[in-house]
Amino acid sequence: DGVRRRDFINIAAISAAGVGGAALLLPLISQMAPSQDVLAESTTEVDVAAIEPGQAIKAVFRKQPLFVRRLTPAEMAAADAVPVDSLRDAASLADRTREGHRDLLVTMGVCTHLGCVPLGAAEGEVKGEFGGYFCPCHGSHYDTAGRIRKGPAPTNLEVPEYAFTSDTTITVG
Ligand code: FES
Repeated sequence: DGVRRRDFINIAAISAAGVGGAALLLPLISQMAPSQDVLAESTTEVDVAAIEPGQAIKAVFRKQPLFVRRLTPAEMAAADAVPVDSLRDAASLADRTREGHRDLLVTMGVCTHLGCVPLGAAEGEVKGEFGGYFCPCHGSHYDTAGRIRKGPAPTNLEVPEYAFTSDTTITVG
């Protein structure tokens, strides 16, 4: 019994050392990164004027990839042709864009399965079977409205809060 007790004391001493070490490191880490509050409130401005139909750009919003894509008429028609009820995560292209700007698709570039960055935003990258985005990690295919169509991802690519602050500028967040 005496042996067990000593083991316990040793473990407790080690844990205390561990906690002390972490406490010393924390102030250093918090000086390097913006606090969560600041991050949560930050916004990102994106100039969308130069994005041609069929092109996308990658930006960063709250430290995560953001995809901004100008759809071609054919890509919009492809999205509109899908019965919304048939979708895993039902939403129309109109639901996922802003009125008068249905050709501008703004989504997070984060697969809703386990968070990989899907392909399809940069020139020459594969766009998957539905012509939108393709996540190579486990094979999720998103369509031209960023909606999940095939593969393990449970939901569509997230559309963040954003608004047009001019005809050619959006503010995300
Ligand atoms: Fe994208 Fe698994 S993280 S399919």
